Amino acid sequence: MLDESVLKQHGQEHFLEYTKVMSQSEKEQLESDINRLELDEVNRLYEDVYVNRKEIEIADDIKQVQFDIKDQFSEEQLKSYRSLGIKAIKDGKFAVLLMAGGQGTRLGHQGPKGTFSFNDKSLFERQAEQLRHLVNEIGTPIHWYIMTSDVNHKDTLAFFIENNYFEYDEQYIHFFKQDHIVSLTTDGRLILDVNKRIMQTPNGNGGVFKSLEKTKLLAEMKEHGVSFLFLNNIDNALVKVLDPEFVGYTIEQNSDVTTKSIQAFEDEKVGRLVSVDGKKRVLEYSELSADDVNKFENANIGIHVFKVDFLIESASKALPYHLAIKNLKQLDEDFSVVEKESLKFELFYFDIFQYANSFATLQVNRAKEFSPLKNKEGKDSIETAQKDLEINQLL
Ligand code: UTP
Repeated sequence: MLDESVLKQHGQEHFLEYTKVMSQSEKEQLESDINRLELDEVNRLYEDVYVNRKEIEIADDIKQVQFDIKDQFSEEQLKSYRSLGIKAIKDGKFAVLLMAGGQGTRLGHQGPKGTFSFNDKSLFERQAEQLRHLVNEIGTPIHWYIMTSDVNHKDTLAFFIENNYFEYDEQYIHFFKQDHIVSLTTDGRLILDVNKRIMQTPNGNGGVFKSLEKTKLLAEMKEHGVSFLFLNNIDNALVKVLDPEFVGYTIEQNSDVTTKSIQAFEDEKVGRLVSVDGKKRVLEYSELSADDVNKFENANIGIHVFKVDFLIESASKALPYHLAIKNLKQLDEDFSVVEKESLKFELFYFDIFQYANSFATLQVNRAKEFSPLKNKEGKDSIETAQKDLEINQLL
């Protein structure tokens, strides 16, 4: 039985109406879903992250993060980074992690974003192919970790199986799922998803570290002799996965975090890599004053290398939840399926930068390395990614 007073106390009494028209088994399922939740915590999350969300404070002690510029390196220097990189990969020092747990709500593609194809080649295949070539070149296997979530795990796995893992040695591909957290209506109520279950959504890409720890994958990496983890997104059509020149640069810098960046356009709405009170951060466009925004032209593109030891030390440290308001498919009061603006709570992986003792950045050429597929149309869209792939002769 659902406890009416507990529901009322937490503002969730709408479930009493739902249960009136539910079958016995649906009711039991709902009851056990609700009983597994800490309703106090759900209320607190709503209050902290939505109701009492602070106006974004514009930090005042912001400094530009130091960065090197790849285009300014000589051919000789790049060659030397490349051979350093190849050696480290050959020695098994690097593993790769692909974050592919997102819902891709803006793109609206049926199925995981990695299954989206340009000229019959999916984003998953484009990344697998690069790693396969690298393995063939150096003769050493590379562990490839792929983070999924409940919303796309089954479909992702099926796609890899259907495509014979893109000829990548399947024993070196490790799928793992990130955690999930409830979504809420704008008035703080829990939502029923289309299966009449309490809606939970992936907890943001920052969930990656705790999930790695929970699944003991960090310990496993250590056992395999992996010292560095290369991390990237699924949606950058031009990403150079485990690019040996960057790997060589990483080895030379020997920092807790090494990151690629690009030069932001004037007023561009991208996160900037900065140092606030000495701590490295990614500040969103909205967190910078109009005066400051163009002073910090070094933009984050979601390509990083983390020392595995740093992750082992930091994975359990707290990261804040951020609010995302997204259109989510759900059941209305009369059980019809509707899409409604709802509250999602997301951790961001770059909030772990604050715990790094050393940080290095290499600014790369946007035209060659960055073209995110976020939207159906307009900026960062199917059309722009297609064009960028064409220019780089990758179609
Ligand atoms: P985005 O922040 O662009 O989110 O993800 P998204 O879910 O793909 O797309 P929208 O915002 O709903 O349209 C950036 C990267 O982080 C991964 C995505 O798969 C992508 O590689 N991500 C995002 C996760 O792995 N888990 C998440 O919970 C969120």
